[in-house]
Amino acid sequence: MKIKKFLLAAFAIVFLGSLVPIFFVYLEKEPSPQTNAQALERIKNNQGELFGFIVLGDSHTGIIPTDSTFLKVIQDVNMEGRWKKLPIDFVADLGDVTFRGSAWDYKVFNKLRSKIKWPVISAIGNHDDDNKEGAALFARYVGPRDFSFAERNSYFIFTDNNRDQTYPDEQFAWLEGELKKSQAYKHRFIFMHKSPISARFHHFYRPEVSSWSQRFMKLCEQYKVDIVFTGHEHLFREQEFGGVRYVVSGGAGMPLDVPRWEGGFLNYVVVRVNGDYVDYEVEQVFPPVWRFVTLTIWQDAFYFLRDAFFR
Ligand SMILES: [Fe+2]
Repeated sequence: MKIKKFLLAAFAIVFLGSLVPIFFVYLEKEPSPQTNAQALERIKNNQGELFGFIVLGDSHTGIIPTDSTFLKVIQDVNMEGRWKKLPIDFVADLGDVTFRGSAWDYKVFNKLRSKIKWPVISAIGNHDDDNKEGAALFARYVGPRDFSFAERNSYFIFTDNNRDQTYPDEQFAWLEGELKKSQAYKHRFIFMHKSPISARFHHFYRPEVSSWSQRFMKLCEQYKVDIVFTGHEHLFREQEFGGVRYVVSGGAGMPLDVPRWEGGFLNYVVVRVNGDYVDYEVEQVFPPVWRFVTLTIWQDAFYFLRDAFFR
């Protein structure tokens, strides 16, 4: 009986211990926003051709479950600096930084972003201007939606494709101009919220039926883009088309879209640039204990039964 009570108490402590830290974050004073421009200021003097950056997406901050999960992701991300094996320059956030683009959501995003050890550079997601004040809040907390910068031997392009199934001609012209400029560098990377091709066949998000999809991918092929990073789909997936790698990393907070064994795990990606070469590693994040107990194991059980008996 005593053992039962002890185990129950131990479980309660671990469960609550994984949930309580986010409430302390809510109580903290909000820091002044570290916008993309300020992040770029911090990395402008970096030198050398061996470096790294981290990519994550879809934290959807503003509600307790996603905030608590993102905090756990951040703790893991911050560990990437250990052993000092690779200088990490920045963290790229692929958008849906907020749950629904409200003032509260941005406030929490700002607090959580400030906990990331490296400068954070963010793209806009389709939910970041859901709310009527969302667009102005994104501009204030993050900055412009389309921009680029050169760093070390690489060129980085962030672009806004949060509108439904379209990427206007003016943006194509801008993008092509940027890709031309990027030819002076060894590598080029694109960061945006939505992939031009869906990460899985059975999904209602099917950009491949829209005209921008092929046009976008052809440009990436033509200008030899190394990797296109996107979020939107809440999973991890890697694909390759026309010599261009496409990496989907949308697992920094929301419930995952697919079974764990199909990429449905919390994740971030560490990219390593070594002179002429680029590779990356996906890191799985173990969910906070409260989430593991109330969501992850049930989701796994559901998918297990579905895959075992109904497929
Ligand atoms: Fe999302």
